[in-house]
Amino acid sequence: MPKSRAKVQKPDSGTAAARLLAWYDVHRRALPWRAPPGRRQEPYRVWLSEIMLQQTTAAAVAGYYRNFLSRWPNIEALAAAPLDDVLAAWSGLGYYARARNLHSSARMIAREMNGRFPQTVEGLKALPGIGAYTAGAIAAIAFDVKEAAVDANAERVLARLYAVEETLPRAKPQLRRFGQELMPESRAGDFVQALMDLGATICTPRRPDCENCPWTEECEGRKRGIAETLPRKGALRARPLKRGAAFVVRDGTGAVLLVKRPEKGLLGGMLEPPLGPWAAAFPSADEALRQAPFAAPWRKCAGVVRHGFTHFELEIEVWTAEVDRGCPAPIRRNSSGNAGKMPALRPILADNAKWIPVEKLADAALPTVMRKIIAHGLNSGGALVTQTRSARKR
Ligand code: ADE
Repeated sequence: MPKSRAKVQKPDSGTAAARLLAWYDVHRRALPWRAPPGRRQEPYRVWLSEIMLQQTTAAAVAGYYRNFLSRWPNIEALAAAPLDDVLAAWSGLGYYARARNLHSSARMIAREMNGRFPQTVEGLKALPGIGAYTAGAIAAIAFDVKEAAVDANAERVLARLYAVEETLPRAKPQLRRFGQELMPESRAGDFVQALMDLGATICTPRRPDCENCPWTEECEGRKRGIAETLPRKGALRARPLKRGAAFVVRDGTGAVLLVKRPEKGLLGGMLEPPLGPWAAAFPSADEALRQAPFAAPWRKCAGVVRHGFTHFELEIEVWTAEVDRGCPAPIRRNSSGNAGKMPALRPILADNAKWIPVEKLADAALPTVMRKIIAHGLNSGGALVTQTRSARKR
């Protein structure tokens, strides 16, 4: 029989839901975005946390969540904030389109919906950056709507509970249906969060703790001895490798030159040191010097900076230079005038480039990859910097 048609033994959904909720009442994780037991959390807090938790672990999100909430305690405050401040506060959390969508949703809700969140899955999905999973999670947690929220953790738990051997992503619709069938009539928010906690603490990818699982009796994957091998994954596509050069330049005061990326696209609106184009191979030294923002005694640092994006891997060689006078803003010079020592910036950079003092770098809207590049340039000649992306959910 083909795997997709293998008979699925279904647990009794009422018993399974009751067992999971009883387990949650004792073992729930204390997370900063959760309301105390028996209470419902404010929609603004649920929404903010669910956007931050997309592709990102609870441990990585906690500090950002607290910081956002203290700076922008409600939707009106967030809607009134400049986008650049929101991007800077998001710096390091990754997937920056989320911050842009968060900000534009805040403006829509505050200005067009009188500050009231949509309470249905369809209404939530109409907001930028909210797909089926996030809409389900917000609807269930904030409004007690009986809607499953099946993310990668919940997929793993459900694939094991029902012993689904179909590979991902083909198994997704079936797993979602199973999640929906298990939803209890009340406590929808607790149920979806219980499923998240079970996936995070008991039904982990490797060595699941089946002995302490509230679903140990009904888990078909455990009974068949295949739990740890589930969910099955389709062939992974290799991520292409892109390479390029970055230019980390300091002026006499130690300030670093940064430019703003285009508003749309990868890392949109965030800051970076001047970068050349990304291609299959590193540029030759001559080519790199043509890509530099201006002529200077550029020096190539030893090693490479590596960073993994969702769809490709990036390797960057870092070039550094020091220019010998303070310069509060990049000066655009033409060939005839201005005999200062700061050389002309390539015109494409001049309009959106600025010198940021080293002590202000921590608060700048710099993505992690750009922070790694700058650190490598500032410690030039230092050890090879490798990619670490602990915040990302696997
Ligand atoms: N992952 C996504 N949403 C979550 C939540 N509300 N609690 C814990 N982990 C989550």
